[in-house]
Amino acid sequence: MSGHLLTLGELGTEGITELLSLTDRFVEVGQRPIPKVPALRGRTVATLFFEESTRTRLAFETAAKRLSADVLTFSASSSSLAKGESLRDTVETIDAMGVDAMVVRHRSSGVPAQVARWVGDGVSVLNGGDGWHAHPTQGLQDAYTLWRHFCPMPDGLPGTVAPDVPTLAGRRVAIVGDIVHSRVARSDIEAYTALGASIVLVAPPTLLPVQPREWIDGWLPPDDAKRVEITHHFDDVLDELDVVGLLRCQRERMIDGLIGSIPEYVARYGLTFERAHRLRRRAVVTHPGPMNRGIEIAGDTAEDLAADGRLLVTRQVTHGVAVRMAALFRLVGSGTALGADERD
Ligand code: CP
Repeated sequence: MSGHLLTLGELGTEGITELLSLTDRFVEVGQRPIPKVPALRGRTVATLFFEESTRTRLAFETAAKRLSADVLTFSASSSSLAKGESLRDTVETIDAMGVDAMVVRHRSSGVPAQVARWVGDGVSVLNGGDGWHAHPTQGLQDAYTLWRHFCPMPDGLPGTVAPDVPTLAGRRVAIVGDIVHSRVARSDIEAYTALGASIVLVAPPTLLPVQPREWIDGWLPPDDAKRVEITHHFDDVLDELDVVGLLRCQRERMIDGLIGSIPEYVARYGLTFERAHRLRRRAVVTHPGPMNRGIEIAGDTAEDLAADGRLLVTRQVTHGVAVRMAALFRLVGSGTALGADERD
């Protein structure tokens, strides 16, 4: 694995499955009375979020603290950026304080990669979501959540049972909504296809790349690209799905004129009560959050699915901490397995 985590494509199938297997160990740490290990004691992780976030920033900070790292939280709005300091000077200032990792979120695609070129050799950069481009730890947490939903962790402490190989082979996953503007969609597609799932992208033409087939074929490895289909008709695929992956309906797209109105979007792409009842009995629903109840999913339907254990949103968040512990441990830690004497 390289010193940075910028996209899942760079990580490859081997790197993805390695991190997901490692995540089992940190799920177990999270279940202890004191959910903390000393793996990153003496290391410093800085979170640099230039765009709003609840889940990703808090999950990274929780993960770093559970690994006993020190955490520096950079807040763009109260920083010297407001006095005109450049992004590069800001990054180099934080680097000069002696950090081991920077988690970067920015509304522009490519900023974490640029930051990785600016920092010193000993600093790992982790992409916390950049523009429409990538959200690799979201893809990892979603893939982990689905893998462990369909293949629950065997009884016993991780490390005392034979490790499972992460897989979604044979699973049919729909990713529904604003594909073209979604970094979550890109990273989920990379993670799910790497684990062998078949994917159907469900969206109106205005919320897909202009030539969606060419886009898929030009980006994914050929064997993975073959398992991705595209449709504009959600109702046509409902009864074949194991997973419905909803994306946030970004209201600003209405202003852009890409969708006519919210009621029109709900009528064609919302997970309504009627659509939920046409799903397979064991099909599950994911959402990266923040969730617009009444748009991507009907409010009562979300409650019903949650009561049935079929809405995986909170499990995605819980696993988001463990996945980020695995990523930080692998990039910033010794890189060796967690030994018994490392357990508090
Ligand atoms: N899923 C996600 O990235 O959420 P936040 O914007 O709250 O981090």
